[in-house]
Amino acid sequence: MTKRPTTLIVFGITGDLVKTKLLWALFNLFLQGKLPKKDFLVLGLSRRDWDDNDLRAHLEKIMIEEGFPRKSLWNDFLAIFSYFKADFTCPSSFVDLAKRVRKIDRQASSCTNKLYYLAVSPHFYQTILVGLKENNLVVTCNNSSWTRIALEKPFGQDLPTAKKLDQLLGSLFAENQVYRIDHYLAKENLRNILALRFDNTFLTPIWNKQFIDKVEVRLWEKEKVADGRTAFYDGLGALRDVGQNHLLQFLALLTMDQPQDSSSGAIRKTRAKALKNLAILSPGQVEKKTVRAQYDGYRNQLGVKKNSSTETYFKISTSFSDGNLAGVPLILEAGKAMKKNLVEAKIFFKQPSKCFHQSSSCQNVLVYRVKPKETIFLTLLVKKPGLVDRLSEAKMSFDYRANFNGEKFASDYEKLLLDILIGDQTLFVSTDEVMAQWRFVEPIIKAWRQGKPKITVKNI
Ligand code: BG6
Repeated sequence: MTKRPTTLIVFGITGDLVKTKLLWALFNLFLQGKLPKKDFLVLGLSRRDWDDNDLRAHLEKIMIEEGFPRKSLWNDFLAIFSYFKADFTCPSSFVDLAKRVRKIDRQASSCTNKLYYLAVSPHFYQTILVGLKENNLVVTCNNSSWTRIALEKPFGQDLPTAKKLDQLLGSLFAENQVYRIDHYLAKENLRNILALRFDNTFLTPIWNKQFIDKVEVRLWEKEKVADGRTAFYDGLGALRDVGQNHLLQFLALLTMDQPQDSSSGAIRKTRAKALKNLAILSPGQVEKKTVRAQYDGYRNQLGVKKNSSTETYFKISTSFSDGNLAGVPLILEAGKAMKKNLVEAKIFFKQPSKCFHQSSSCQNVLVYRVKPKETIFLTLLVKKPGLVDRLSEAKMSFDYRANFNGEKFASDYEKLLLDILIGDQTLFVSTDEVMAQWRFVEPIIKAWRQGKPKITVKNI
């Protein structure tokens, strides 16, 4: 843990991310003594005409609503928050912010570490980055402290905008200062994938195109697009909301080669390579091999355009063009308002032309499930009890939570925040990964924009 005084500057302190994720994560880190003991300050920025007390009262209200525990410690926790009124579109706000940050340093008699956390709509990114740059806020004030930046997805709207944003970021920060967040990478069960694959050596020889028949990854959500997010979502769609990032990172972990070692650099590099192994669809293939749909009633939601052609569901059939799985078919699928919550990957293993017992199928499938429950199961063929040899399918199953009953599961954002503070980039998306993700998604978005294939309105 970083021991130096640290200032966490949160753009968008009154936003949804703070309410639903960051506050809880910070509180848990606080309870576990994982935050710097002395001079750790969270400077919350928003447009509201508030002071420190207003911010603390607002946060306390969230803590009550969400049922935070250990009430006797709340005041100590809330005391780490301070408020700063800022209009991100106004250059003078950044001049004032620079003064405030220097004041914090003076009060701490130290050049504090600075973490700028952009918990705002991505259309503010450019203005904020320029504001930070013009006021010298990106420069680390001495050699023993650091300045880092954390950004939420989506990172760009498409390949050109992602490149532009990346260039701007690259002109301000070194790659080791940039923490691009994809919270899926921090989920306990996704962090377990590398252990499953590379610490269980019986899997290594069969994780390739000789043995794997097909890979499917899906992210179904039962909920519709939340009412408060419709306007944002309508400009994005399912592919860019969860496909370009969460689904592809899940896939990368499942299909990447074994990294040279367990260092952050080696893991990020190998994940990027896995993403580059995806076959990129031509416009003609997009028309034939992708499906996009919108759930019935989406256009009637407040904030959605009446003639919206934004997909709330997609299915992409492609394959791997390179690497150990070259040629293996791949299906990626995600949607809102689906019949159930289901986030999982299925690895289908090849079956011989003739099964040993007389049976129509002897295929094994490894299911790696994230939702509704973190489980891993392998379908096996077993002999049914009795005098006659007949086969039946059985499941060999591992329930992550039940197995570690009582052990604390770290929440995604707890892990992410801690890793930024200690400077571990393993669970953050590198520039190479972002570009590979956009390269895969870009031709699909382009063809969809031209109406190929047509979007259908139906519940899936
Ligand atoms: C977010 C998307 O990144 O991930 C949401 O913007 C989606 O639309 C969410 O619901 C899913 O994350 P989780 O952790 O709830 O599975």
